[in-house]
Amino acid sequence: MRGVVLAGGLGTRLQPMTRVTNKHLLPVFDRPMIYFPIQQMVHAGIDDILVVAGENHSGDFLLLLGNGKEFGLRRLSYAYQEGEGGIAEALGLAQDFADGGSLCVILGDNIFGAPIREAVESYRAGPEGAMVLLKEVDDPQRFGVAELDGERIAGIVEKPSQPKSNLAVTGCYFYDGRVFDIVDSLSRSDRGELEITDVNNHYIDWGELRHYIVDGWWADAGTIPSLYRATRLVAETTDQSVLRLPEITKFSKKSPSR
Ligand code: DAU
Repeated sequence: MRGVVLAGGLGTRLQPMTRVTNKHLLPVFDRPMIYFPIQQMVHAGIDDILVVAGENHSGDFLLLLGNGKEFGLRRLSYAYQEGEGGIAEALGLAQDFADGGSLCVILGDNIFGAPIREAVESYRAGPEGAMVLLKEVDDPQRFGVAELDGERIAGIVEKPSQPKSNLAVTGCYFYDGRVFDIVDSLSRSDRGELEITDVNNHYIDWGELRHYIVDGWWADAGTIPSLYRATRLVAETTDQSVLRLPEITKFSKKSPSR
């Protein structure tokens, strides 16, 4: 299974910082935000990753991540998203990279305090359909929210004003090769984006969306308060089995020249 980290978009909710750098390069305690999804994938045995970068300072991804060797990656590829057309639009740019196979997709601003390896293995065991990771939260209005019907997800609503549950759909998704046909069929939402929630609802219509409840804490670092919360959680996490991968503790001392 290959991995895709979606790091496009303009990061407008993190201005003024994102006027001069990319949101996913901002520090979360001791390292740039984008390290976390990459580390999670490496820890779960995914060593072939595509980073989808946005227009905003995207050259700096290359300066920071290079060829991915420092993370133990076999291959690190890049794609470029113009504008801010949505998470599903960014995912659509991964079609050639996926080459018909299944994908683990993580949003570049999502940080999981515990390994997602078990979820990766569970999807790997039957890589058809899709799977989402869910987490109970206090503020479901900020997220895609899943409504459960017994053991299965009956539907997902993006940022509902009156959420039917407190189960947020986190930014970690698993898809089979059909996801790109779904992306091609989507129309833009009221906010002008191709929505990942619409992709997931397609799989629900087919009866092919599984879910997995996340262990440990989860943070999305896309706003000032949530970036602060994520930083605090990372700093306080003592069981850092994922957050402290050996490769990552050996930060390179080189400072690339521009
Ligand atoms: O964090 C989980 C939530 O992420 C989910 O619960 C929601 O269902 C999902 O829509 C998303 O909501 P956000 O409002 O937090 O998404 P945001 O626009 O902040 O984008 C999150 C990441 O997705 C961003 O860090 C990079 C990537 N992205 C986003 C957009 C809009 C792209 O790669 N390209 C894009 O055009």
